[in-house]
Amino acid sequence: QFGHVDSVINNAGIFAKGAVHELDESTWDRVMATDVKSIFLTTKAFVPAMIERKSGTIVNTASISGLQGDYNMAVYNAAKGAVVNLVRAMALDYGKYGIRVNNVNPGPTLTPMFKSNPESVIDEFAQASPLGRLVEPDDVARTMFFLASDESAPITGENIPVSAGFEIYSGQPVQQ
Ligand SMILES: NC(=O)c1ccc[n+]([C@@H]2O[C@H](COP(=O)([O-])OP(=O)(O)OC[C@H]3O[C@@H](n4cnc5c(N)ncnc54)[C@H](O)[C@@H]3O)[C@@H](O)[C@H]2O)c1
Repeated sequence: QFGHVDSVINNAGIFAKGAVHELDESTWDRVMATDVKSIFLTTKAFVPAMIERKSGTIVNTASISGLQGDYNMAVYNAAKGAVVNLVRAMALDYGKYGIRVNNVNPGPTLTPMFKSNPESVIDEFAQASPLGRLVEPDDVARTMFFLASDESAPITGENIPVSAGFEIYSGQPVQQ
């Protein structure tokens, strides 16, 4: 209908809890396939036409869980950590074709994935943010739109947290 694809958003993802010894192999494979291999497959499908046109943008959804470690989230940390570096490889390889590739790295966001937590857990997360709030899906979408558009023309290969500040804290106890 529109003749060509200007932008691809690689957003599909799933989550699993557990330390390494608690995860079964099928869970490991499913999370890695959905969160990492999906970006490989979708990019392989769409990037040849972008290379031909010498333009295009790709935005992947990573996570603050790719930038830092979390308790009880081994496979999700591994998957999103892979996406955090994959974006750099893609941006290096496709820059010469005028194709830009960036990641959005959301913090806890009020989508069905996160809202499946008990209310008390959601409240606890909101209180842990320096802004005392969670991320709205629209906050992430607006950043994706920016990265997909010419408004972000000089930006490529970057990880852009949209996180209400969750990943900025070193974890040291508060000193009075
Ligand atoms: N919600 C959060 O707190 C949060 C934080 C950081 C990153 N993320 C990331 O944001 C992205 C979107 O997650 P969400 O929070 O909207 O979760 P969600 O569970 O609400 O939505 C996930 C989406 O991925 C799709 N999906 C899952 N498996 C798929 C498959 N095999 N094939 C095709 N589509 C598939 C689902 O249909 C759904 O539309 C994911 O990559 C997730 O890891 C979410």
